[in-house]
Amino acid sequence: MCGIVGYIGSRQAYPIIINGLKRLEYRGYDSAGICIVNGEPFLAKQKGKVSDLENFIGNRTLEGTIGIGHTRWATHGEPNDTNAHPHISMNEKFIIIHNGIIENYGLLRTKLEKRGYKFYSETDTEVLANLIEYIYLKGNVTAEIAVRLALTKVVGAYGIVVVNRDDPDTLIAARKGSPLVIGVGEGEYFIASDATPIIEYTKSVIFLNDNDVAILQRNQMTLKTIYNQSLEPNIQQLDLDIESIEKGGFEHFMLKEIYEQPRSIHDTFRGRVSTNPFDIHLGGLYNVLPKLVEAKRIILIGCGTSWHAALVGEYLIEDLARIPVEVEYASEFRYRNPIINKDDIVIAISQSGETADTLAAIRLAKEAGALVLGICNVVGSSIPRETDGGVYTHAGPEIGVASTKAFTAQVTVLVMMAILLGKKKGTLTQEKYEELINELNLVPDKIEKILLSETIVKEISERFKDARNFLYLGRGYYFPVALEGALKLKEISYIHAEGYPAAEMKHGPIALIDDTMPVVVIATKDSSYEKIVSNVQEVKARKGVVIAIVTEGDTTIKEMADYTIEIPEAGEVVGSLLSVVPLQLLAYHIAVLRGCDVDQPRNLAKSVTVE
Ligand code: F6R
Repeated sequence: MCGIVGYIGSRQAYPIIINGLKRLEYRGYDSAGICIVNGEPFLAKQKGKVSDLENFIGNRTLEGTIGIGHTRWATHGEPNDTNAHPHISMNEKFIIIHNGIIENYGLLRTKLEKRGYKFYSETDTEVLANLIEYIYLKGNVTAEIAVRLALTKVVGAYGIVVVNRDDPDTLIAARKGSPLVIGVGEGEYFIASDATPIIEYTKSVIFLNDNDVAILQRNQMTLKTIYNQSLEPNIQQLDLDIESIEKGGFEHFMLKEIYEQPRSIHDTFRGRVSTNPFDIHLGGLYNVLPKLVEAKRIILIGCGTSWHAALVGEYLIEDLARIPVEVEYASEFRYRNPIINKDDIVIAISQSGETADTLAAIRLAKEAGALVLGICNVVGSSIPRETDGGVYTHAGPEIGVASTKAFTAQVTVLVMMAILLGKKKGTLTQEKYEELINELNLVPDKIEKILLSETIVKEISERFKDARNFLYLGRGYYFPVALEGALKLKEISYIHAEGYPAAEMKHGPIALIDDTMPVVVIATKDSSYEKIVSNVQEVKARKGVVIAIVTEGDTTIKEMADYTIEIPEAGEVVGSLLSVVPLQLLAYHIAVLRGCDVDQPRNLAKSVTVE
């Protein structure tokens, strides 16, 4: 949700900033802007994508070894050139980029207006720029003090980088609630919302914590809190390579990430699951495992796709380990005055590790005394840093806005956790334990096989690309898969789609079915196979058009359905990992055929750092 890049060093800043913005564009893409400082700052901002900004700048040579850049996902004020960042304070002393929301911006704006400040945009960021300037001029203090004092007056979330025109050889960065990473080079520093713009230059990074302020000069960095307490920077080495954040020959990041799943799932369980002897070892849970095994209740929280993974987790943990599980939308949980007991265990699921609602929900759970764990993909992000333990999914960077490989990695972690808990609790026999571990090991190869059916999925997509509504049905473990399939379709193709438990269809959605309505049914050979056969018959009896995901060799459903996509046989415990893949491909191809921007769908942003 908004991407920030900054550079100070001896290289030319413009290419670093513009390339960095392209890497961060998944965070927001309604407008972009840069400022390159070379004595006089050069500032350009433009509605649209980073490429529009680049075209606007054209062949101009922008010299300067300090720069900042921003790609926006609008919160206050519509996307246009004026509301785009950077913002300049009224007396042009400060230039600022900001990710987050200043909640009390209205009040601050009114106060500043009374003191003669004029505003040109509708943004909260311009208010912050003017507040900093007001304190700087009125108090006759240094830029650093002005920034720190201003931030103590702010309610809300921010990741900011500030240029002071009286001291153009310094950048000031600060964070609260919105992520910021500093890359440490030789005589140079990089700043970004995540590590992707940085890793081609340095792997040494510092993750800023809430209330941290970094004052960066070419050869020196000072780290302190907004309350002026000195801090020792904790420099960490990143384990990321440049290939993992490039398209690698695929037309879109989403397709690349769908195809990466055999490897990303393998990476998720590699080194954690063994067959000789049969064992599951999740290092990040080691210290809390006895508590997990004894848990009276586990509450899984997340948003969007991560919430769907949590639903699969509920089926898994209750089924295999017989521990009661509740699943909550983080955004509801945090505001509905939930009952949280000290012996509850709350597990937050998040790809980015930065989702504002999920972060707020874990803080609430911690305050209530619950043990809080995380299942996250982005190493060093806020949720893993604020939880008492957890498991990284190791799916690698997910750039496509629609989540694919992060979902299957989250489910893989939940499968491992459920099997491990079942074993420790004694609810799984040794035989079942071994059988499930073997099944998990086979998943990557089975997904390779599913990916071979892409041509069939393309044909089906061609047939249904103009449909106006889709219904997705599944039972048991496949109900969350139906929800996830529907979400994928709506977010990237803008076709209305709904996911339902198949048996619920009779209680309402069946009224929608006619011969124009594609109904995608996950109808694999599992414990509820006979039931799902009846559901398919019910749809066909109303002239619905059925696209069924079936187990290889199935004949019953094949005879009834209009289209079938086969997937290899597998038990329910890993079934969601397989059955979601054709649904990802279906959404992808329909969106491509409709000419949609698959990697950057309208109105969306990858990392939702505002509530
Ligand atoms: C959908 C999607 C979103 C995210 C949601 C939570 O494809 O990507 O629904 O799943 O915004 O994000 P994380 O997992 O980063 O907390």
